[in-house]
Amino acid sequence: MKHSEEELIAEAEKARQNAYAPYSNFKVGAAVESENGDIYIGCNVESASYGLTVCAERVAIWKGISRGVTKFGRIAVVVDTEEPTPPCGTCRQIIWEFCGDVPVILANLHGKKEVVMMSELLPRAFDSKFLK
Ligand code: THU
Repeated sequence: MKHSEEELIAEAEKARQNAYAPYSNFKVGAAVESENGDIYIGCNVESASYGLTVCAERVAIWKGISRGVTKFGRIAVVVDTEEPTPPCGTCRQIIWEFCGDVPVILANLHGKKEVVMMSELLPRAFDSKFLK
């Protein structure tokens, strides 16, 4: 954990500025840290087909994976909502698989922050241990 929660939030906020969300206008930014302290950022990218939209959290994790990283630590998610917004169900599964039971830092643009453990967001998760 080489970065403060505030640094991760600031990176997620920067990524959010590039969100491609012309259909929902709901811009999301995420920043995930790798074990060696690198930060990978992501924003949501929407498609005119709607269903092909990818969330900010997964974009951030995919970017790390494409650099050869497969184990991550904490992830920050920033949305311009009154209450910080938790990750969707699909992203919870992916965060669990690649980050494990990490603190998920939820923040809005007005300094409101909440930290929730992944095991609280996704209890009794399915993962690779069931495949062995
Ligand atoms: N979205 C995310 O980026 N992350 C989430 O965890 C929730 C939803 C995006 C997808 C879509 O572009 C927009 O927010 C509205 O659902």
